[in-house]
Amino acid sequence: METNINGIRVRYEDVGEGPAVLLVHAFPLAGAMWRPQVEALQGSYRLIVPDLRGFGGSDAPPGPATMDEQADDLAALLDHLGLAQATICGLSMGGYIAMAFMRRHAARARALVLADTKAGADSDEGRAGREANARLAESEGAAAIADKMIPGLVAPGAGQGVRDTLRSMILANTPVGIAAALRGMAMRPDSFEGLPAIAVPTLVIVGEQDGLTPPSEARAISMAIPGSQVVVISGVGHLSSLEAPVAFTAALRDFLGEQHR
Ligand code: MLT
Repeated sequence: METNINGIRVRYEDVGEGPAVLLVHAFPLAGAMWRPQVEALQGSYRLIVPDLRGFGGSDAPPGPATMDEQADDLAALLDHLGLAQATICGLSMGGYIAMAFMRRHAARARALVLADTKAGADSDEGRAGREANARLAESEGAAAIADKMIPGLVAPGAGQGVRDTLRSMILANTPVGIAAALRGMAMRPDSFEGLPAIAVPTLVIVGEQDGLTPPSEARAISMAIPGSQVVVISGVGHLSSLEAPVAFTAALRDFLGEQHR
């Protein structure tokens, strides 16, 4: 499905029936990364799965695509669907956007899932690395980003199937969209300050071998959000929802079940 949101065309899936769950994808992927969770949960939940601006089938305007702007896109998508609230579940960049959503649209969140993400802002070195990657995308295309990033997105022991899925998702994105998101992530503020104010049930999930946003980051987020719980998924890396779809979905299903008994 498609709609116009904040001046751009946004593609999204709206699948299943039940309490609404908004699944927010990682960088530099697309809503398709949530396929295992959509298939497993659509019998009990309404899954709303956008391609964020710059990715998948959505428009890719020149950036920076800030986390605030992307959070506003999500709120506008809920408006379009006539949904007052949804559970917001974001992985990595999706988590940055979910934290921005909680700053800007907290009343629209029924519950929150933050997976393989971190609350701190980038260091100066991190920001410089993002700008270098944005220029790499612009000069050499999405394949150069895939080559550079895939080894860090999964655990060393991840299978070729997951790596191939990631590669084809990355290659389907445009250099403009990739660069816009990189520059937007570099601009994101520290989110720690706002975490103690989060008043909805929150689950923090992390892959045990996540080298980009390790379990220590997940624990720091959870310590800051009152009453939140952490699930560590053993043997997998950063994209835990794709590398261990069964364990990830089980954690999500248990959490959603607690909210909707
Ligand atoms: C992601 O998986 O969304 C990215 O690795 C996040 C980041 O680059 O900070």
